[in-house]
Amino acid sequence: MTLAQDRTQDRTLAALVRADFPILAQTVNGHPLVYFDNAATSQKPRAVLEALNHYYEYDNANVHRGVHALSARATDAYEGARDKIAAFVNAASRDEIVFTRNASEAINLVAYSWGMSQLQPGDEIILSVMEHHSNLVPWQFVTQRTGAVLKFVELTDTQEFDLDQFKQLVSDKTKLVAINHVSNTLGCINPVAEVAAIAHQYGAKVLIDACQSAPHMVLDVQALDCDWLVASGHKMCGPTGAGFLYGKLAILQAMPPFLGGGEMIADVFLDHSTYAELPHKFEAGTPAICEAITLGAAVDYLSTLGMAAIARYEHDLTAYLYQQLNPIPQLTLYGPQPQADGSGRAALATFTVEGIHAQDLSTLMDQSGVAIRSGHHCTQPLHRHLGVTSTARASLYFYNTTQEIDTFIAALKDTIEFFGSIFDED
Ligand code: ALA
Repeated sequence: MTLAQDRTQDRTLAALVRADFPILAQTVNGHPLVYFDNAATSQKPRAVLEALNHYYEYDNANVHRGVHALSARATDAYEGARDKIAAFVNAASRDEIVFTRNASEAINLVAYSWGMSQLQPGDEIILSVMEHHSNLVPWQFVTQRTGAVLKFVELTDTQEFDLDQFKQLVSDKTKLVAINHVSNTLGCINPVAEVAAIAHQYGAKVLIDACQSAPHMVLDVQALDCDWLVASGHKMCGPTGAGFLYGKLAILQAMPPFLGGGEMIADVFLDHSTYAELPHKFEAGTPAICEAITLGAAVDYLSTLGMAAIARYEHDLTAYLYQQLNPIPQLTLYGPQPQADGSGRAALATFTVEGIHAQDLSTLMDQSGVAIRSGHHCTQPLHRHLGVTSTARASLYFYNTTQEIDTFIAALKDTIEFFGSIFDED
């Protein structure tokens, strides 16, 4: 029996983990906080906060440089975090994981290193209209500098990735397909393994933006057979300032460095340098040591819960969320509906309410302690494609509950009623 069918089952994952997240225990505007802005950033469990403090209280030193005890401990913890991430995404080698500040930096690394050096006028890059700006603007830079061109996969009737159109677009000219795994706005789950298999038939490389999948589901880069995959630590219980790039070893080895400086060198002469082995070749300067170690603690936390268990629980939340949202007549929901068991899409709902600006909606809901995002969610082209300037988005994570969905729905209905009564007076 699923959570959506039997509310008494709400002693599942959220009940187990809730106390791990101190921030969730507060009131906002006199109401218990309902944090439904997890697609923008997730909250951090105590284990992650403790890892952060522990590093600065006991281990703080620069990595790969000193032979003293603190430097050795910091280096072990930093490289240990790389091992954890490699295992988390099932990379074939730890050297395939490069720490970056965030997913945007990881995509820029590929764009500047591989894109600028490999692409020629007339080469094609296929993206989709649902990409967030991180997976669009760097490729605009590349096409402006190389003469390559961008092509875009549009949406099906159910506002999902149009695989048939992709099959029409892909050709021998395609050198790269870069798409998100899960849309941060539509919540659809894209057929990335199928896209990768097709793209590879044409000799194209494949980059997967896993910002919205890595926090929520099992990831296996070898099964997906992607050439690169990027993710953002702060969306998966980790700190800001830590993300990572996965790349197939041979591809990373062939790529020139992106940023120059300390750490990424082997030998430096006045007129030239040789570069460090992977993954250090792509980690110039003192890295975000604490952030990487803390992301490792977040990966430990998620792995202990189990990504499959997280996904199952989020399906239950999704089914319940949509059961409550679907009957509200003033709402337009974007992206596909979930399956009956809540699978088939992300645990987020993006919507507009007739006659109410998303900004006003979220401002009023904040008065009830409900945090949702409003705006374009870093997907302006998608919003133009949908014919709207702004939407509201409620995005859930495994620490959220059906009771919180009830609070959110009540606040939403109150807000709609409030605006309705204003318009009635006019
Ligand atoms: N792209 C992030 C979001 O969806 C920031 O909110």
